[in-house]
Amino acid sequence: MYLTDEEKDMLESDNPAVRKAMKLLVKLGDIYGAEEMVEIASAQASGVSYKSIGDPGIMFLKEFADEGAQVSVPTFANPAGMDLNKWKDMHISEDFAEKQKQIIEAMKRMGITISSSCTPYLWSNLPTRNEHIAWAESSAVSFANSVIGARTNREGGPSALAAAITGRTPKYGLHLDKNRVPTHVVEVDADLNSISDFGALGSWTGRKVEDGKPYFVGVDSAGTDKLKSLGAAMAASGAVALYFVEGITVDPMEVQGLERIKFTERDKKEEYRSLTESEDPDLVVFGCPHCSINEIENIAKKLEGKTLDKDLWVFTSKAVEAWSDRMGYTDIIEKAGGKVFSDTCNVVCPIEKMNYGKMGTNSGKAANYLPGFCKQKVMFADTDDLIDKVLK
Ligand code: F3S
Repeated sequence: MYLTDEEKDMLESDNPAVRKAMKLLVKLGDIYGAEEMVEIASAQASGVSYKSIGDPGIMFLKEFADEGAQVSVPTFANPAGMDLNKWKDMHISEDFAEKQKQIIEAMKRMGITISSSCTPYLWSNLPTRNEHIAWAESSAVSFANSVIGARTNREGGPSALAAAITGRTPKYGLHLDKNRVPTHVVEVDADLNSISDFGALGSWTGRKVEDGKPYFVGVDSAGTDKLKSLGAAMAASGAVALYFVEGITVDPMEVQGLERIKFTERDKKEEYRSLTESEDPDLVVFGCPHCSINEIENIAKKLEGKTLDKDLWVFTSKAVEAWSDRMGYTDIIEKAGGKVFSDTCNVVCPIEKMNYGKMGTNSGKAANYLPGFCKQKVMFADTDDLIDKVLK
């Protein structure tokens, strides 16, 4: 692979962390046939939750920080395994909290912003079109590539960190024009009204196209919340990192001669049915991907003056939680008996150790992950239906 003088210097750097990071990226580039590196504008570090990385992950991060690893571009952390302030309210054990804090400390030492969220594009890190970035959380990768038109592969924890340190990533995959073309046309012949309807479409499509790049036709309208739900679900049931929606997202360059598949009303109903194993949740969760302020406002309006019979948790970023507090939404949700948590989410917190076994979600991504990662029986439904299920 061609390396600039600066990149060659990084391979020989006195700083062992820079050396290691550049070596890893060169190896990755060789595997994928990259001809050169590309400079990135930002990175997103994954592998933040102690549940996901365990003790070996803590050791790796501490060692890296001790060796002098420092990010050279704005780098934002993915969700951790607990709310960093309200972890006791989540019934997190002291032991887990202690380990989680060690991860956060090591990341802070490297200069990573402890935003602990999968939606950096909602409040702080909004890339520009065609900007090269190295993001790691699959729903954020999908949103950045598809809705914003930035360019990132679906990075792993170590490669995103190496990119953050060097400010480079190997130029292959979705960094190249030739790979940013659709593989399938998905004709949508179903009403899509809610966030969960888009989650159902995403879950169905991801299974069909796997790591393909679907081009949706027949979607009348879709705002940010619905698109983040669509992309997250496709990245979970499949490995979609780039999609197109006719007239809504970035336009595809070429749509001739593609395989065509059709999503009907019947497919939508079947997707809800197949993702639901129990209709009696003992905990309802919202915020996968992390809730926007609009989603929290809707939940608060629905809960105003009501009382919950079962638990209801809303997950969001620290920034959006602050707006929710200021607007009085957190107060309304808590008065009804629910909770608003930030820094973490329903999948990467140790929910399986908290005496819950049946969870309700409006997220196609969570509905795909909760049974396997968190040993939960899922009810997949629309926000209003889920709230009605757990009201007194
Ligand atoms: Fe985000 Fe966690 Fe869902 S990282 S997309 S809320 S599984």
